[in-house]
Formats: sequence, structure tokens, C-alpha cells
Amino acid sequence: MDTKKPNLNKPAKERVIAGEVTSGDVQLDTSLRPKKVADFIGQTVVKENLNIAMSAAKARGEALDHVLLYGPPGLGKTTLAGIIATEMGVNLRITSGPAIERGGDLAAILTNLRQEDILFIDEVHRLSRPVEEVLYPAMEDFAIDIVLGKGPAAKSLRLKLPKFTLIGATTRFALLSAPLRDRFGSVYRLDFYDEVALGQILNRSARILKVDAEEAGLAEIARRSRGTPRVANRFLKRVRDYAQVKGNGVITRDIALEALSRLGVDAMGLDDIDHRLLSAIVEKFDGGPVGLETLAASISEEADTIMDVYEPYLLQLGFLERTPRGRMATRLAYEHLGVRYTREKSPQGMLL
Ligand SMILES: Nc1ncnc2c1ncn2[C@@H]1O[C@H](COP(=O)(O)OP(=O)(O)OP(=O)(O)O)[C@@H](O)[C@H]1O
Ligand SMILES: [Mg+2]
Repeated sequence: MDTKKPNLNKPAKERVIAGEVTSGDVQLDTSLRPKKVADFIGQTVVKENLNIAMSAAKARGEALDHVLLYGPPGLGKTTLAGIIATEMGVNLRITSGPAIERGGDLAAILTNLRQEDILFIDEVHRLSRPVEEVLYPAMEDFAIDIVLGKGPAAKSLRLKLPKFTLIGATTRFALLSAPLRDRFGSVYRLDFYDEVALGQILNRSARILKVDAEEAGLAEIARRSRGTPRVANRFLKRVRDYAQVKGNGVITRDIALEALSRLGVDAMGLDDIDHRLLSAIVEKFDGGPVGLETLAASISEEADTIMDVYEPYLLQLGFLERTPRGRMATRLAYEHLGVRYTREKSPQGMLL
């Protein structure tokens, strides 16, 4: 299948806390991936809206409106696409933005779809312009225009397509072109999960993997999983290994804490690279603001990787602020690093 992730999202070295897919995940992802809405934990608003849209489409006997799912890696976009296909009882065809090189490639995919099929395009923001041009009439009118011949004698032929549903997924909503964005009937943003939801996800995973785990052990894993199910599941697997080798196979609170600290994960779920990033802003750039490229170069990471993988959770924690002049470390970040916060705001909110 052509869903391979591009280098864009690939960190220089694989991080155990990375939200994106790493090599050990592929098998884990398929066995733990929920297949039905009922098994999909959290994201209540998204689930409710999707349920309504799906019931309405089924009642009318029509294909579901095109759906756009966006949010940081590992929060369940691909999983939801699979669930929608299962619930609608239709086929799912999976591809990704960078995998579709030419308009002709997309035309071939589209003409092979059957009525009500779902086409899932991962990283939909990475479709090239010419490919997008083919997609517009396909989404809007369920048709593609094929040009026969060249020059003045060229003829355009309109080919009807079956009514299908496009599900697009992206980690970068802002990079989506406006015309493409506008053609999705519904747009859902996936948010980070709270500890309770992550605890439930871990419970379910532990059951499937037949891991013996105490509630308190899973809670510690949940607390350090950066609000991300994929990270939670990966930790569970690593902690299970540790429990087998160093304990009696049961994931207790102590085992979880030991295993995670060995993996270099701190109490908030931050690892060595998060620390380097925050420390760089605080120590090298005096708390910021510092431009993304400069920051990336200073810790030898790619700017895109920082944006996609590291930053979203640091922003969510309130450790980092994005300003027009660059990234700034907040008081909370200083406190977490154990560095005295020396920057105070003036009454006008200007930094002194
Ligand atoms: N709501 C959920 N309930 C239970 N498990 C979940 C949920 N969301 C995600 N998962 C688990 O997390 C894993 C990662 O989810 P998924 O692959 O759908 O993320 P994604 O948003 O598509 O990530 P990416 O942006 O990297 O493609 C899944 O294999 C699944 O096991
Ligand atoms: Mg995915």
C-alpha cells in the first residue's frame, strides 16, 4: 500500500515519544486500532457529529459528504477513516498526498472507485497543484475532465464518476489550499486526549495484548503520553517488556515509573529533545522570541519536524508561545526546567 510517510515527518532519530509512526508501530497500530465508533475513545464532539452525518447519509441512501480530519500525529485520523468505512459498510481505498504524483494517477484511482466507496488521502496538504485540479471537479460534480490530444485540436471530455466520499487527513491544516478546504462538507479537528481517555485506551490495549496491569500503573503511563494514543500504546509495550524482565510481568505503578524514566521520559511526558528545545530558547535565546529556523538549527533538528511533532504538545502544555516574532518560552517552561523566570510583563503587556 502507498501510505508510507514522507521524510518530512521523520525526526533525525526515532523518538519513543514521537506522535508519528515509528518502525515498531505498524503491527501495533493494526491490532489495537478500534474498528467501530463504540471502541473509539474520547473525541466526543467529533464522534457525535460523525454519527449524525453517517446516520443521515445512510437514511438517504447516499454517500457521506467529504470529510476532512486534522490534528497532530497519532490522535486517530487514520483510525477514524477506517471506522467510517466500517460503519458505512463500504470499501476503503487508502493513499496519500505525496504518493499521487500526477493528475493521471488520481484519475486512475477515482475511475476505479465504486458507488459510495471511501477514498482516504493521508497528508492531503501535500497534493501537488495539478493533482488538486483533478480533485476539484471530482469532489464537487463527481466528474473528471480528460483532455484528448494537444494544441488547438485538443478536446476535453467529461467522465462521470460514482458518488464517493473523500476523507482527507492532515497534520497541517494551514497548508491546505483554500479551494480544497472549501470542498469538504465537514471538517473535524482532533484534540489531544485527557488522562482519563488515555487511561481507557490503555485499558483496552492491555486487554487486547493480554498484559497484566494495575490501574495505577496505567495511570502513570497515561499521564506521560502527551495526550496521544499512539504514544500511550507504544509506552504500554515498552513498559510491558520492562515488567517481564525486571518484575513479575505485572505493570505496577513502580514498574511504569522506572521503565518510563529509563526511556528518558519526564513527569510531563517530555523527553530529551523537548528539553533541548526548551533549554535552547531559555539559555541561548534568553527566552525568545526566536525564529523557527534559527531554533531548529541550534538543536540540529528540522524545522518541519519541530512544527509537526514537538511543538503542538508544548503549546498545549503552555510551555511555548508562538508570536509573530518567533517562539517564546513561558514561565511554566522555566519552572519545569528549574530555571528562575526573570522576564516580567509591563502593564501594557510588553516584555521589558
Ligand atoms: N480514540 C482512540 N481510541 C483508541 N485508540 C486510538 C484512538 N485514537 C487512536 N488510537 C490508537 O492510536 C493509534 C494511532 O492512531 P492513528 O494511526 O489513527 O493516528 P493518525 O492521526 O492517523 O496519525 P498520523 O497523523 O501519524 O497519520 C492507532 O493505531 C490506535 O491504536
Ligand atoms: Mg494516519
